[in-house]
Amino acid sequence: MVDTWAVRNLLIRSLSVAVCVAVLVGPKFVDAQGGGDRSLPRLVEKDGRHALLVDGKPYLMVGAQMNNSSAWPAMLPKVWPTVEALGINTLEAPIYWEQFEPERGKYDASMLHMLLDQAREHHVHLVLLWFGTYKNGSGHYVPEFLKRDETNVPHVVNAQGRRVDSLSPHSQTVLDADRTAFAHMMRELKAADPQHTVLMVQVENETGSYGSVRDFSPKADKLFHGAVPERVLKALHKPAGTWTQVFGTDADAFFYAWSIANFVNQVAEAGRAEYALPMYVNAALRDPIHPGAAGTYDNGGPTDDVLPIWKAAAPAIDVIAPDIYLPDYARYTKVLELYGRPDNALFVPETGSSAAYARYFFAALGRGAIGFSPFGMDATAYVNEPAGATRNDEKTIAPFAVVDRLFEPMQREVAELNFEGKLQAVAEDPDNHSQTLSFGGWSATVSYGLVRSGKTPEGNTPADGGAMVAQLGPDEFLVTGLHSRVDFTPADSSAQRQFLKVEEGTYTDGKWNAIRIWNGDQTDWGLNFTSVPQVLRVTLGTY
Ligand code: DGJ
Repeated sequence: MVDTWAVRNLLIRSLSVAVCVAVLVGPKFVDAQGGGDRSLPRLVEKDGRHALLVDGKPYLMVGAQMNNSSAWPAMLPKVWPTVEALGINTLEAPIYWEQFEPERGKYDASMLHMLLDQAREHHVHLVLLWFGTYKNGSGHYVPEFLKRDETNVPHVVNAQGRRVDSLSPHSQTVLDADRTAFAHMMRELKAADPQHTVLMVQVENETGSYGSVRDFSPKADKLFHGAVPERVLKALHKPAGTWTQVFGTDADAFFYAWSIANFVNQVAEAGRAEYALPMYVNAALRDPIHPGAAGTYDNGGPTDDVLPIWKAAAPAIDVIAPDIYLPDYARYTKVLELYGRPDNALFVPETGSSAAYARYFFAALGRGAIGFSPFGMDATAYVNEPAGATRNDEKTIAPFAVVDRLFEPMQREVAELNFEGKLQAVAEDPDNHSQTLSFGGWSATVSYGLVRSGKTPEGNTPADGGAMVAQLGPDEFLVTGLHSRVDFTPADSSAQRQFLKVEEGTYTDGKWNAIRIWNGDQTDWGLNFTSVPQVLRVTLGTY
């Protein structure tokens, strides 16, 4: 079964490289990278919507991230079977600074080459994660020669004068070493990857510090009592002053966000000077509904309250991307809302791998996401999310494989429709068993808990549904879903809908291939989606 899928996917993937997306409309978008090599993967924005262009066309990253310690020669054989089983098109893989620069100025790019070679063999793109000065707020991946140099590589000091497990962003030694190594990695990548196997690079990993709202070392204090930089004042429309004068009780947190963003920006700039791939940072979130006080979460990183500071301080970063480990609907969808902004493409580079998360692929798409990637998807043993899991088995993978296999074959079409603002998608809210999507002349109702017409939908237990509806023409829609029913109502209340044609099919090579027409039980109560990946093109009429 898996083999058949793998072969099919491989074919579809290689064909889709040449896909000409029929609906591509005049490119009035803004190029986030401001020109340069236009064949490079790049981010574009149009009317507040975003796309990642790969080979010049919108691309949806149907992704997964491997575990932290999986990018080693002995481990990759335990990664690829999961990649194949999922049917993804993009794998996120770390590059470890400690491995890349084992001795000062001596670089080892063997792992980078190994990842490139094996990703190409398995027909997937890569997103590389630079595990540098920051990894989950700590400096655990800095090379040993720096770890031993506590004088020049100081830890953050908290308000009580105690060192915390995080390196100070005010150390010139660390900044210089990190940006030199990162630049070297990007140079090596540019030379080794003319075919653009790598689509994006994550600079650092979950920057910030746990255990202190900022660095209170004398060097940091001096900066804190100085003037707020012009760039921040301008971006936030504030008058000049010290951090406390300008930001009052937010001063510590905002100063620290500036300090880390400024550090990361310089690392990113050095890398881009070598090779200008799209670059992003990932965020360890604060609770989006009840955030709690600064100091109680990962501070200095791009939490939702400091996004404007990060945007001002780190122009070399294209995207600020949330790592979402919040399974409940209200929090998950709030995070999507907070990070999907006209000035920030929505990208979910990490999310939990328990079944509850799979349906959020739809919710992310509905907010215009350029990619979605559950974390820890390989079979190397311990997985941190969901907490306590010891392996990533078939049961874990299955809900994600269904979503990935639904979207990957039509990822180009979906990315294009989303970029054009023609697509809406939703995930099941356990407290609300139907959702309505409006498309001008029609509205689409998505309901959960398959019931006959006339009965109130009762929802799935547990909530695992989702649906996508995209408008192809005034009365024509591309529709898909899982564990849901979709039906349409005309805006004209004197009319009633009828299905003129409901075709099930697949996109291959940019072309729609119908395999059958749905009618009778399959359409009499609406369009019913189960756990089988099915895609419909629907033509509507009224009577
Ligand atoms: C978020 C981090 O960014 C990942 O590297 C990993 O540690 C996950 N958390 C899972 O714990």
